[in-house]
Amino acid sequence: MSTLSVSTVFLDVRDTLGYVDRPGHLVLFKPSTRQFLQSLKNDMKVRVGIITNLPSNVSHDQGVAMLKEAGILDYVNPDDVVSSHEAGAEKPAAAIYQYACTKLKVKPEECMYISENFIEVVGAQAAGLNSMIKPFPPSRDFLFKPLDPGTSTPVDSGRLAEVMMEEEHLVGKRIVGASAKIAAMISENKTVPLTAVGNLVYLLQNFVNPYHHMKEEKILIPFAISRGYPKAKTAWILLEHDQGRCYFNAIEIAYNRLLNGDTIAWSDLKINLEGFVALYKQHGGREDNEFLPEAGKLFSPQDDALIVDLFAKAGPGDLTPYLALIAQTESELDK
Ligand SMILES: [Fe+2]
Ligand SMILES: [Fe+2]
Repeated sequence: MSTLSVSTVFLDVRDTLGYVDRPGHLVLFKPSTRQFLQSLKNDMKVRVGIITNLPSNVSHDQGVAMLKEAGILDYVNPDDVVSSHEAGAEKPAAAIYQYACTKLKVKPEECMYISENFIEVVGAQAAGLNSMIKPFPPSRDFLFKPLDPGTSTPVDSGRLAEVMMEEEHLVGKRIVGASAKIAAMISENKTVPLTAVGNLVYLLQNFVNPYHHMKEEKILIPFAISRGYPKAKTAWILLEHDQGRCYFNAIEIAYNRLLNGDTIAWSDLKINLEGFVALYKQHGGREDNEFLPEAGKLFSPQDDALIVDLFAKAGPGDLTPYLALIAQTESELDK
């Protein structure tokens, strides 16, 4: 029986190490991706490279910059990043895996390719590399394990629970941005595509409320109170969520009236979108700079791990469809 000896592990990026929440911006799976990269480098002592297919409008250097910004280059030499542009081929073609081995001066049989994408994994194997599939979406990547905080400032507890909610707020900001744009288009008597309004209604009712609000209401706030955070200081969050839900419902009713041919509903849609935008612009900022850091400073490493685990269970398991809907809505509004 031969012993497998791997000197180099090549990783796929998107949906293997994190999700791309907007073009050119990678959000790592937390806390699993850093732990994974640290283990590869420090415990297994293998060289870590990247093999990535980039779209035609993203250059190799822009791809490397995205990896740097996400923190991946803390573990990967930028020269060990291989893109489809420089290889002149895309995964799952054998040429890109072979190009990667040549570039890093390693033999295919010494390498392992890891991705969540089954076809790419088979492609790597066909090119002579070892390969493994990584589950997507991450499931038990969020194992219950005490988590040390990062750097703390007056507006940042350094807790992972805070980081995760602030990342969700960045997604929320795009929903607010699309809403503001629709309201402005109505004011200017421009034609608003009803499909964009429909997407927005879907996101508010099936993403913002059931996932984001619920994480705050059912997990973070009760936990913060149990650790001594004054209950009275959480009232504004719950009240603003109630106000928000009224806007979401009013926006949905106006949308249904428009679908029913009732054009007078455009003004009701506009009024409620404007209300939602004004409310949530300040709501997210106040959570980021007041509630989340103050509560985060009361949490222990065990608390943080438990909250992150509960977040993962609360969902959504996979953010991809919601991000795709936001991107689709933005591009429809840009036409
Ligand atoms: Fe909130
Ligand atoms: Fe929030």
